[in-house]
Amino acid sequence: MATRDKWGSKIGFILAASGSAVGLGNIWRFPYTAGKNGGALFLLFYLISILMIGLPVLIAETSLGRFSGKNPVGAFKSIRPKGQWKLVGYFGVITGVMILSFYSMIAGWTLGYFYKAITGKFKTMTSANAEQIFTNFAGNTAMQIFLLACFLGLTIFVVSRGVSAGIEKYARVLMPGLFILLLLLLFRSLSLEGASKGLEFYLKPDFSKLTPGIIIDAMGQAFFSLSLGMGAMITYGSYLKNDENLVSATAWVAFFDTFIAILAGFIIFPAIFSQGMSPDQGPALVFNILPVIFANMPGGIVFGSLFFLLLCIAALTSTVSLLEVATAYGIDEKKWSRKKAALIVGALSLLFGIPSVLSYADIPFFQKLPLVNMSFFGLMDLLWSNLALSIGALFLAIFVGYVWKTSNALKEIAKGTGKFKFAKFWSISVKFLGPLLIIAVLASYFFK
Ligand code: PHE
Repeated sequence: MATRDKWGSKIGFILAASGSAVGLGNIWRFPYTAGKNGGALFLLFYLISILMIGLPVLIAETSLGRFSGKNPVGAFKSIRPKGQWKLVGYFGVITGVMILSFYSMIAGWTLGYFYKAITGKFKTMTSANAEQIFTNFAGNTAMQIFLLACFLGLTIFVVSRGVSAGIEKYARVLMPGLFILLLLLLFRSLSLEGASKGLEFYLKPDFSKLTPGIIIDAMGQAFFSLSLGMGAMITYGSYLKNDENLVSATAWVAFFDTFIAILAGFIIFPAIFSQGMSPDQGPALVFNILPVIFANMPGGIVFGSLFFLLLCIAALTSTVSLLEVATAYGIDEKKWSRKKAALIVGALSLLFGIPSVLSYADIPFFQKLPLVNMSFFGLMDLLWSNLALSIGALFLAIFVGYVWKTSNALKEIAKGTGKFKFAKFWSISVKFLGPLLIIAVLASYFFK
């Protein structure tokens, strides 16, 4: 694979893979999903999922990627040229395109809120009018489609430029900036009056409220946040050099990702409770609360603008990885040029993104689909983020555990890593613990 573009350095992989992992999933999806699922209880099962299944699957995906040097379809094929395992790869490619479609809509929201911030619109936002302002904003279909298209255009632009010139360069500079702003917001939020009620909601679990729904949401969020189960990490792993320490690189990625999600919770919940707002308001949650915080903070315009700008960029480093999977597939398997592949896949995502946008317009059909009783966007998020990623991760673990075999995977991992202290736990997790837990969670959800 001498000709395949590689990351410039290990820190390049860590930053790009954390760029993929850290995004709207941490700052937008984690808080509202935790808010809907009782806060602390969700946090607990989220952390368990990361440690018991997330990190082991992350190592498995990345090592499969590096070993094969391929996109997800090519990776399964390179180990099992015959048979149906490549379908798991195709499933991942499709999942990526679908997640990209609605993820880009939310990224469009952040773009719109960046504009609101920089033009001083946050100044007049209060806990009383924030929800209405959001509803009007998200309900403006023409503008939303424009924002969605802008964001996908940006993603296509970065992906067309290739791995180390495009993705790595952007991730390198911007991720640390976001982190510093989050710390600032943390201090602001914790110093608000009534913050302690938010902390209690976030940290004190009430086990009497436990349901299978909470556990599947927590597991789905763990996969979503670590970009697992659809081959993003196979693809990124394929650009990782052989002499890099794969275990420490992936462990850093999981650590950053989890840390930032936890941090986001420490910012959002104290703020929500201090404003007397409800944590259970769904996808609009951070868009309703953060402008109110910025409105009441010295330098709010500057910090608010910077925050939404960096959030856009964090979203971009994630959409780039979503698009990169199908693009790498187009390049490797269909022999398309990088540009052509990125354009075709991006256009498909735009098409699928439009019905998600319509879920926020005043159109009853898309707001409440018949039979399932949820919005088109809600259904997409459930199907692709929670279910498809869990199923993808399940098959990946089975593939690495039994087809490629953990002993072979461990040989790949050992290149550049040397002794892997948790090799035993890792093998058990990939072969037994991970698959069993995923099956149990899915089953408890479907047969409740
Ligand atoms: N992990 C990204 C986030 O948390 C989303 C993502 C999911 C990216 C799956 C790639 C693959 O924002």
